[in-house]
Amino acid sequence: MPKSTDLPAHYEDLTAVEGAWKTLLRAGSSERGHPFKKPVLSTLSSNGQPKARIIILRDVDLGERSIRLHTDARSGKVGEIEANPNVMLTFYDPTEEIQVQVSGKATAHRDDAYADAAWAGAPPSSRRAYLAEVTPGSVSERPVSGLPLDVEGKVPSEERLRGGRTNFAALQVVFDRIDWLFLNPAGNRRAKFVFQDEAWQGTWLAP
Ligand SMILES: Cc1cc2nc3c(=O)[nH]c(=O)nc-3n(C[C@H](O)[C@H](O)[C@H](O)COP(=O)(O)O)c2cc1C
Repeated sequence: MPKSTDLPAHYEDLTAVEGAWKTLLRAGSSERGHPFKKPVLSTLSSNGQPKARIIILRDVDLGERSIRLHTDARSGKVGEIEANPNVMLTFYDPTEEIQVQVSGKATAHRDDAYADAAWAGAPPSSRRAYLAEVTPGSVSERPVSGLPLDVEGKVPSEERLRGGRTNFAALQVVFDRIDWLFLNPAGNRRAKFVFQDEAWQGTWLAP
């Protein structure tokens, strides 16, 4: 059993929990290799089926409670979000044994200043994916990357990359609920945070 001195500040203190999930989200967006870089994005399909997939965390703005993700505008998740904007992002840090579930509403930006800025900031190797000629998830008779032959295995020129812009969407998730879970042999801890009256209101929960 760990001594109480081995336990992190967030074990007994809701303010420290709020600080900890904010720090993890910031690290996930800025630190290469950080486990919060690859959350699972959950959406609902129009027939009520849950859909979940890993997606790269591109940016977090804690002041705006806003998370940015990038995707193909033709992918299933974009239609799902346009029909039902309620989404959840699930993050897990296996070293710290912390799960953070972030809930809110997503908007798909295709052709506005938000999407333009996201496109301009994405590295060429990422932008290449949007040159795919076929809709993601469409059936193929043979194994394919979907990319045109001239860009397979190489980073295309800026001029060539521009052709993918119409297939690019930046997803903006504005979140107002957080579910926190910390696993520890001394006893697990769970808390929720709801954004109300211009501040995060935290409450302990039974795990
Ligand atoms: C490590 C990893 C990172 C991924 N990053 C992204 C990403 O940033 N954007 C994206 O659209 N798909 C990403 N994917 C692929 C998605 O998980 C998913 O397969 C794809 O977007 C199609 O999803 P959909 O058909 O549900 O829309 C990633 C997959 C893995 C395994």
